[in-house]
Amino acid sequence: MPAHTRVAVVGAGPAGLLLSHLLDRYGIESVVVDSRSREQIETTIRAGILEQGTVEILDGTGASRRVLAEGHKHEGIELRFAGEGHRIDFAETVGRAVWLYPQHEVLKDLIAARLAAGQDLRFGVTATRVEDAGTDRPRVVGKDAEGNAVEIDADVVVGADGSRGVVREAVTGARGGFFREYPFAWFGILCEAPPSSQELIYSNSPDGFALISQRSPEIQRMYFQCAPDTDPEAATDEQLWETLQARVPGTTLREGRIFQRDVLRFRSFVAREMRRGRVVLVGDAAHTVPPTGAKGMNLAVADVVLLAEALRALLIDRDERLFDAFPETARQRIWKAQHFSWWMTNMLHPQPGASEFDHMRQLGELRTVVESQAGHTYLAEAYTGWPLSGLPAD
Ligand code: DHB
Repeated sequence: MPAHTRVAVVGAGPAGLLLSHLLDRYGIESVVVDSRSREQIETTIRAGILEQGTVEILDGTGASRRVLAEGHKHEGIELRFAGEGHRIDFAETVGRAVWLYPQHEVLKDLIAARLAAGQDLRFGVTATRVEDAGTDRPRVVGKDAEGNAVEIDADVVVGADGSRGVVREAVTGARGGFFREYPFAWFGILCEAPPSSQELIYSNSPDGFALISQRSPEIQRMYFQCAPDTDPEAATDEQLWETLQARVPGTTLREGRIFQRDVLRFRSFVAREMRRGRVVLVGDAAHTVPPTGAKGMNLAVADVVLLAEALRALLIDRDERLFDAFPETARQRIWKAQHFSWWMTNMLHPQPGASEFDHMRQLGELRTVVESQAGHTYLAEAYTGWPLSGLPAD
């Protein structure tokens, strides 16, 4: 006999966990499954920038009690090119800010909140497929860590299982999505060192892009543009510091032990369909953005805020309108974020094989932004995040 729940959520990342948290506030029961262990989820390093609206949701709904206390408010970023730094002041232009608070800390908070509420949250459960997607009673089929069969019947199945998840297939079939690859990647490091800068530096240099970010007074996160097939273990620490330092002329980087290295691929993707019957996609299962501008998790949160409202109307008021409209409503923000991520990426990264013309044009584009109030305002508005619709009241 399959278990039954109102909403079966595949994926215990930010999208799935936040959705289950918001649904619980409406009295809607859900089950969340994830193939990974709790430890894996809580220790995987991802981006660290939260839009103001994301912070308001996490704090305002009790999803994270630590984000305001332990996160660091940032009221601007620096764009650096041609040897000069230019500050984009978020507070002055749009009266908003972002918070530096790593994604895995958000996940720890969400998992703790869900378990404290007695949530049915199953780690080590791998969904293998979704059945009866076109009906009113879709079903998640999979297996637990011991290989026992798992079946969960639901009123609605939500795919929050990321870009390699299994739910996407049930929704998009062969229709797939809009896709773009980039001819570069980011080499990311975590190191034990004091901050080299109080704010983030996005640097365009002739050798390639670099981003100086932070994690805490003792731990720093930095990235530099590299080839997509770069082996993260091939370079020595000294070579990595040399590469990074050459790309942020004007700042002396404070070096320290590098304890994590990874290579992040750059892709843009939007699924052609986000819903089929009662099966719906959110977050990376529905779309991927390249990392420049840190929109990935914030976009997942925006999807989930909309979907929680739509599910409340569907499952409590028996009103299908918001649920039917969800893909189109979500898509509008998704494409704005796709554009912003693509734009930040292309403005800041020299393309492999770029000509002198390309290089000079790119500097012209950067100068257009930093010397214009409208340019500052667009960047600040998009970076801090467009308003979220349907903010649930506390
Ligand atoms: C970080 C990642 C990003 O993609 C970005 O644009 C800014 C910061 C980070 O991991 O700190």
